[in-house]
Amino acid sequence: MPITTYVFDAYGTLFDVNAAARLAAEEPGRGDLVAVWPKLAADWRAKQLEYTWLRAVAEAHCDFWQVTQDGLDWAMEVCGLHDPELRERLLALYWELAAFEEVPAMLAALKARDARTAILSNGSPEMLNAAVSSAGLMEFLDATLSVEAVGVFKPHHRVYDLVEVHFGCARDEVLFVSSNGWDAGSAAAYGFRTAWVNRGGAPMDRLHSTPQHVVTDLTSIPEIM
Ligand code: LAC
Repeated sequence: MPITTYVFDAYGTLFDVNAAARLAAEEPGRGDLVAVWPKLAADWRAKQLEYTWLRAVAEAHCDFWQVTQDGLDWAMEVCGLHDPELRERLLALYWELAAFEEVPAMLAALKARDARTAILSNGSPEMLNAAVSSAGLMEFLDATLSVEAVGVFKPHHRVYDLVEVHFGCARDEVLFVSSNGWDAGSAAAYGFRTAWVNRGGAPMDRLHSTPQHVVTDLTSIPEIM
């Protein structure tokens, strides 16, 4: 079955989640952040994701904006950063994360051959709309699908079901693309064809399924048909 529908994770895949802490550290008067921003960004992301998994298992859903704030609060505390103004700045930057540089051309190549394109993300509709609009990606995306439609985070199968509900397509005509190894592996187990974007050379996650494709950035995604 040829691939008709290309579905992308948002945070870390299309949008650079480290950009908020990196950009804040470049601002004047942020001496406290210069040395610790990589640790802050990594802890923020790790806790944000951990909280999504725990809330899914505990059936205690809240939206992604809440776990994004909760993860940041934990990460700032462990770094010894007690600065409400910095917290607000980091959160504001999260609403306008830059897309990775190859994203517009990659999506344009997919649209040039009439492939269907979508985001499927833990993000709330408001967060996703802000990120898509600030990165100028609206014209390249047919749909932005948020877990808020089903009230549970990835990798619950009800989230991956949203693709079929929206597009009416079979699982094996979907290429699901994620930089999160656990998301790519879970989507492969669900029955999507999958590509893991492994920018950092991480080891493959040991899960119940593995992605069929591993790429180092998004440039070659349109070649997977
Ligand atoms: C998302 C998270 C997993 O966009 O990055 O769904």
